[in-house]
Amino acid sequence: MKFSHGARLIGVGAGLPSAVVTNFDLEKLVDTSDEWIKTRTGISERRIASEEETTSQLAIAAAKDAIGFAGIDPQEIELVVVATSTPDNLYPSTACMVQAAIGAKRAAAFDMEAACTGIVYALAVAQQFIGSGTFKCALVIGVDIHSRFLNWADRNTCILFGDGAGAFIIKADEKENEMLGTYLRADGSGGHLLHIPNTGSAYPHAGVTPPTATHGFLEMNGRAIYEFAVNAVPEAVRAACSDAGITVDDIDFLIPHQANMRIIKSAAERLGMAPEKIVSNVNEMGNTSAASIPLAMWQALKRGQIQVGSTCALVGFGGGLTWGSAIVKWTAVDQRQSSQDEGTQVTEVEASKK
Ligand code: UT7
Repeated sequence: MKFSHGARLIGVGAGLPSAVVTNFDLEKLVDTSDEWIKTRTGISERRIASEEETTSQLAIAAAKDAIGFAGIDPQEIELVVVATSTPDNLYPSTACMVQAAIGAKRAAAFDMEAACTGIVYALAVAQQFIGSGTFKCALVIGVDIHSRFLNWADRNTCILFGDGAGAFIIKADEKENEMLGTYLRADGSGGHLLHIPNTGSAYPHAGVTPPTATHGFLEMNGRAIYEFAVNAVPEAVRAACSDAGITVDDIDFLIPHQANMRIIKSAAERLGMAPEKIVSNVNEMGNTSAASIPLAMWQALKRGQIQVGSTCALVGFGGGLTWGSAIVKWTAVDQRQSSQDEGTQVTEVEASKK
């Protein structure tokens, strides 16, 4: 897809709950072990939101971090898109809450939901608005608090997920286009393989006072999602590369949805990508759903893995079923680095409240 205006990613940010829950903590809740979780998923620990921490707070923290990275005035932002499956409430949208909190007074704002692929869908939406010349600056956030919708007695699911938010700032660029290609797909016939039932208007108890039952919890056919993912990731990356007019060999870094290290390695192998090209933080974050790709990129930048000029394949998969990829060239530097000896700090929710 060719656009009349170029787009560039100029900022990335994170918003994380402060509590770290280790595999050893989970051993006390369900019949599992640190060794099983690490071997089967690559996860050692994850952040879990406290009762006081909300999706909107995490999103706002990530937005502020990304705005600081990009060194922009929030009033430059003309579009706020939040990808989430776990908003504070059905409405107002999380995007409207972020828009107000950061003072993006000139922005349109809406949420969208494509489960763990949401951030890739949201990037593609932002690119459409910027590429067409409608808007010049967009804030795109992926955020989820899945811990509220986990059955903490189900060892098949509760060990996998973490909470968090990741954000990107995208700006129009008249000279260069650095959002090189995208690919989005869905297959609703597989919706039952990964879902959170009894959480919407189809729930027969919604609106009954007093409530007659609690809401549903995340349910998953792990094997089926695994099989879907190891095929969906290579398909999406190859197709997005083709859209970008490049080959998989031109990709410097694979930044996949952080669900399971075995899925990530298997998909990279199928793509013929060397392990050094994999970006992953699943060991310390778990599966943060829509937040996982920007959080992985944010950490890779902090540890110097991704360099200016790197061509990156962002690729997501998840409930819906949905999957997709965006090929981007990363050329941004943290605008705070020149003014802070200590460099970028982890943005915690508490810090955002001050
Ligand atoms: O955003 C997308 C979200 N979802 C995913 O990405 C999930 C994709 N799927 C997976 O990551 C993997 O399928 C899992 C990590 C969920 C499971 O790994 P697996 O290698 O497919 O294990 P399995 O489901 O085949 O289970 C193997 C055994 C079973 O015991 P039996 O029947 O062989 O006796 C499970 O009951 O492991 C057992 N098991 C556990 N044991 C200890 C399942 N969960 C656990 C656990 N601790 N937490």
